Amino acid sequence: MSSAGKIEETDLRTSNERLKKYIREKVNHLLSVMGTKPLNKEELDDSTLIELDPIGIIALSFEQVLEHQKETNRRLTVAKDQLQAVFDTVGVCISIIDEDMRIVNCNEKQKELLVSSNTKAIGRHCYDIYCGKDSPNLDCPAVETLATGKPVFIREVKKKHKHFQIVTSPLNDADGKVTGVIEVSMDVTEKKKVEELMRQAEKLTAVGLLAGGIAHELNNPLGNILGYATLLLKDRESGLRPEHREKLEIIVEQAKKGGDIIRGLLDFSRQSVPSFSNVPINDIIRKTVRTLQNRFSSQRIKTDVVLPETFIVRADPRQIELVILNLLLNSIQAFEGVNGREKTISVRTGRENDFVQVTIADNGPGIPEEILPNIFDPFFTTKPIGKGAGLGLSICSGIIKEHKGSIHAGSEAGKGTEFVFLLPAAGPASG
Ligand SMILES: Nc1ncnc2c1ncn2[C@@H]1O[C@H](COP(=O)(O)OP(=O)(O)OP(=O)(O)O)[C@@H](O)[C@H]1O
Ligand SMILES: [Mg+2]
Repeated sequence: MSSAGKIEETDLRTSNERLKKYIREKVNHLLSVMGTKPLNKEELDDSTLIELDPIGIIALSFEQVLEHQKETNRRLTVAKDQLQAVFDTVGVCISIIDEDMRIVNCNEKQKELLVSSNTKAIGRHCYDIYCGKDSPNLDCPAVETLATGKPVFIREVKKKHKHFQIVTSPLNDADGKVTGVIEVSMDVTEKKKVEELMRQAEKLTAVGLLAGGIAHELNNPLGNILGYATLLLKDRESGLRPEHREKLEIIVEQAKKGGDIIRGLLDFSRQSVPSFSNVPINDIIRKTVRTLQNRFSSQRIKTDVVLPETFIVRADPRQIELVILNLLLNSIQAFEGVNGREKTISVRTGRENDFVQVTIADNGPGIPEEILPNIFDPFFTTKPIGKGAGLGLSICSGIIKEHKGSIHAGSEAGKGTEFVFLLPAAGPASG
């Protein structure tokens, strides 16, 4: 063999050795990854290498890893779908909020109650989307949990006119740093309404019993005063002097007013049985507005009465007159102290399915939001002593309920007040 041939053969052997070393290292690495004892140098001859089929092992491992990966992914997808279904179908609102108070995720119930349709909630501030505010509430449980890293258990919070019981718990990263909050809240608005109604009903029962008792006691002596005064006035032979006659007339008039108050109290305590008939409500409205005409003119109040059609309701006309009178008087009284602008009271009637709707509105000072829920409470008044007993609206509410109707108030401070009541519509008026 020539010297050039010898050099070539040596190069070939060296490169072969390097290649084998490389393959042995890689095969041993692979075997150790797969948990098998590494091969000795002598075990790693050409035939072992072919037998071991490292590429085959790698391909098989990949296949197994891929299969395992696929199965894990499938299980993860099932678990994720199950969790999402639970997340969305629980009857409570769930939100995940980050440390900047932005919504990371929220469930369907949360969206249904507090996210307006077509609004994208994710990534937006929770106080903006859920509370309609530009900064968090002072009593916000999420703020507290973010600041303290501690959960908040059951706090009642108002969001967009709804009441919620809220629980918050922190989300921590691997170092224990608070990175967000999970907020779970339950809508308790209806529960609160029922509680309020029960409280109201209990109060009304107690006050009603008291008022009814007093009214009955007063009814007899007042009836006697009225009776004897009327008798004296009618007795032509009594020789009454004109000034005495005048005084007697005042006694009769005042006793009649007292009688009206007693009837009001009996209405309020539901001890006067309503006498129902089919009545045109517009006639009652016109009559009541006429009664108050002097008050409207003396206080320069404009009335805007629009009664387009004849609406017949099934009602006790005297009681409905009392309701309208109370509402109009409240509007007149609300204008006391209002000067330098136009004062208007408007009255409208209309049909609302099976009901006739009456709206009495004024552009007076309005009712502050914080007292609006109390105005139908018996004895709730903002008027000075001697000016209002706080009974008017609770009497109205009692009467309307007795008629199987409903009444509610809407008001915006500074803009005015609107009372709307509904009464069951009836057929044409009888005789
Ligand atoms: N139209 C209105 N504008 C502003 N506030 C009103 C109006 N109607 C009612 N209110 C508020 O509701 C409260 C309760 O009214 P309600 O008629 O029951 O009692 P009152 O008018 O104070 O007393 P009473 O009717 O027994 O003389 C009032 O004191 C007043 O604060
Ligand atoms: Mg009143």
